[in-house]
Amino acid sequence: MMKNNFEIGIVGLGAMGRNLLLNLRDHGHRGIGLDKDNAKVSLVKSEEQKSTEMDATEEVTVFLNQLQQPRVILLLIPAGAPVDSVLSELVPLLSPGDLVIDAGNSHFTETNLREKFLAEKGIEFFGMGVSGGEAGARNGPSIMPGGKKESYERVRPMLEAIAAQVNGEPCVGYLGPGSCGHYVKMVHNGIEYGLMQLIAEIYALMKLVLRSSNDECHSVFSAWNGSELSSYLLEITAQLFQKRDDTKSDGWLLDSVLDVAKQNGTGIWTSQDALKNQIPVPSIDAAVTARDLSVFKAERTQASTLLESPAVIDVADREAFVNQLRNAYHASSILIFAQSLVLLQKASVTYGYSLNLEQIARVWRGGCIIRTALLEPIANAYRQAPTLSNLLLDAYFARAMNQRQSDLRTVIQRAAEGGIPVPVMMAGLAYYDGYRSAWSPANLIQAQRDYFGAHRYERTDVSGTFHSDWGNS
Ligand code: 6PG
Repeated sequence: MMKNNFEIGIVGLGAMGRNLLLNLRDHGHRGIGLDKDNAKVSLVKSEEQKSTEMDATEEVTVFLNQLQQPRVILLLIPAGAPVDSVLSELVPLLSPGDLVIDAGNSHFTETNLREKFLAEKGIEFFGMGVSGGEAGARNGPSIMPGGKKESYERVRPMLEAIAAQVNGEPCVGYLGPGSCGHYVKMVHNGIEYGLMQLIAEIYALMKLVLRSSNDECHSVFSAWNGSELSSYLLEITAQLFQKRDDTKSDGWLLDSVLDVAKQNGTGIWTSQDALKNQIPVPSIDAAVTARDLSVFKAERTQASTLLESPAVIDVADREAFVNQLRNAYHASSILIFAQSLVLLQKASVTYGYSLNLEQIARVWRGGCIIRTALLEPIANAYRQAPTLSNLLLDAYFARAMNQRQSDLRTVIQRAAEGGIPVPVMMAGLAYYDGYRSAWSPANLIQAQRDYFGAHRYERTDVSGTFHSDWGNS
């Protein structure tokens, strides 16, 4: 066993930390893990038999003494208080020049504070989004690093080695300064919420309008995944419809899962920061809200006996309806990405991140939860026009929307007729219609504000601001 010579230390040996350690080992990088939980340390040590490149310990000092100096330490622990608690234990034992990388889902504002706090002690701190869950960590995640460029360069070879690869390109790259890595990961998760709810809405329509079996749902999602829409979420969704319930002799596991969606809050953060930056991301807001509403299970059950619903609807041509669903899904996915990328563009200015949206789309093409074939044309759009103000203005995506918007409307109409909530589709369509309208009814809002608050209004024909006595016609 090589002592005092580990290239990287990982704090937190849950599934993510352990798998990253194994991934690093597979790529010839020597790592040591730290965890207070003896069982987790033992698990890593049992893998260690196969290699001298890896170790684990419960002792902070043992951990720190075995790392090459200046040290590189990766935190794989839950966001919030646990990060501060680990830092308060580690920091007094660290030396100037050591680099601490927070690879959890931390809020970007906390990353800013921590970077500043550690910089005062000469310790480098780096925020890094990692996506792909346990399998991604083991086989190649998408990695979103942000902070000091020099800090990134110290770990670049390791990150490039363990990241997912698409066409020989690693799904990692220096994204920019400050907390941008965690910001980009937050928006990634907002998109994740939007796409997951969108797929759930398609499922609801298939189940309640087409009365599709789980086998049919599996076939449809598999077929879509085999097309230009291919995505990780479609792939795993198709698989979910095939899982038998082991606790019962017949039946599907999915049908026994309680219809209450939980969350760790990153989708909420995306909506909150979008509101703060005044960038509309209604598809993500709708997805967050849908999860929140699902939690009211008891009230929903009570309301279902009290509040009227429309009669069950039927569609004559099932095949045609599935095709409309596919187009509605495609258009709604584009709208989720379009809104989110505008948010990134705005955050880039607000927080001084200097983000490159083409690069972000490329980093998202592999390893992460939102990976989809759609990210290739998205990257192309931003390569051709790096300052594109909205994906919907790109010729390829404008055409894609023009070809599908009518089916999105039809699907939403059917959903409304049948009383089936499709909030992400509806929010996306309202955004689309609002965005493509040269005229909006906001003149009336301006007049109302001026009437009751003398807030003044602008005119279409003369520049300047005006106030009128609206009540006196
Ligand atoms: C990822 C995921 C990961 C985690 C989400 C789940 O990119 O690998 O986004 O970070 O699964 O935080 O989020 P919720 O618990 O909020 O659904």
